[in-house]
Amino acid sequence: MNSPSLFFLLLHLTLSLSLSHAKLGVDYYRNSCPDVESIVTSAVKAKLEQTFVTAPATLRLFFHDCFVRGCDASVMLASQNNRAEKDNPDDLSLAGDEFDTVIKAKAAVDSVPECRNKVSCADILALATRDVIALTGGPSYTVELGRLDGRISTRASVRHHLPHPDFNLDQLKAMFASHGLTLTDLVALSGAHTIGFSHCSQFSKRIYKFKSKSRIDPTINLPYARQLRQMCPEKVDPRMAIQMDPGTPQTFDNVYYINLQQGKGLFTSDQILFTDTRSRNIVNLFASNNTAFEEAFVAAITKLGRVGVKTGKHGEIRNDCSVVNMIV
Ligand code: HEM
Ligand SMILES: *[C@@H]1O[C@H](CO)[C@@H](O)[C@H](O)[C@H]1NC(C)=O
Repeated sequence: MNSPSLFFLLLHLTLSLSLSHAKLGVDYYRNSCPDVESIVTSAVKAKLEQTFVTAPATLRLFFHDCFVRGCDASVMLASQNNRAEKDNPDDLSLAGDEFDTVIKAKAAVDSVPECRNKVSCADILALATRDVIALTGGPSYTVELGRLDGRISTRASVRHHLPHPDFNLDQLKAMFASHGLTLTDLVALSGAHTIGFSHCSQFSKRIYKFKSKSRIDPTINLPYARQLRQMCPEKVDPRMAIQMDPGTPQTFDNVYYINLQQGKGLFTSDQILFTDTRSRNIVNLFASNNTAFEEAFVAAITKLGRVGVKTGKHGEIRNDCSVVNMIV
């Protein structure tokens, strides 16, 4: 074999090896779009200044994306005859501002000529998520990059992949374990409920229809249950939403865990983390030590960001985050 063809054979081997084993890396865009992080951060800041819901909505979108078909921005693909991931009832409560956040950040990235169509929507969502956490008072961390965007989004794929607010600890544990996440990861990531809103329908059973004499779930702090009944009357407008962390609703902190200790977890899936003795010590640790919470949260969200990552021919860098690229 002559040397040029040996060179190309080796090059080919190296490329295909590195593609099939491609791992996420922190300087993935060092050559193609070196300023991607600051460009995304500026766009996210501008959006957050317009509306606070940017923060919780983006964080929740990242979670919903990663748990369904992996962190591949499949949740962003526009609906075609109501059959897309985002059409599933579990995703209908996604607010809208989170999609807009990613679309605006993508536009900002693409306005830089060298970056145009070089950065995936999945990575932009991962970066925007880090930014909203830091901008609301949470920890900052380095984001691993190199996810490609998926080409498939189906309503059916959401089934059995997102947790429900009435889940018990076994159900939560099993679902998180199926994505390689531990009990500590589950408790840490649930701390995301330290910011944001919930519709009354998500927990109304706990305050009106519980199987007990008072009809109120006995694991809820009674004054808090009464407050919830006031904010969410039984015949409330289904669009009505309330803050999930009544103490510091706009700050990413460990007050969520202190709430759990006081019976102020909004969902069964929140309160069970304290009620069930298998996870109570983790809740107590995070409630008493914000640094311990932040460290565990960063470790867990980094693991979440690796779930089902697509590389090589399994994905693409979408030009428009809401539609797959045309195959030419
Ligand atoms: C552990 C199981 C979990 C369950 C059962 C659950 C369930 C829910 C539900 C029912 C809502 C209210 C949605 C609405 O009515 O609009 C909500 C909101 C939210 N969830 Fe979770 N969630 C879980 C874990 C997570 C995780 C791991 C994250 C992120 C790391 C997260 C982030 C959020 C955020 C930020 C909101 C507020 C969204 C907003 O204000 O727009 N959740 N969650
Ligand atoms: C809080 O947690 C951090 C990180 O795990 C640890 O280094 C520190 O010693 C803890 N602080 C206290 C008061 O226990």
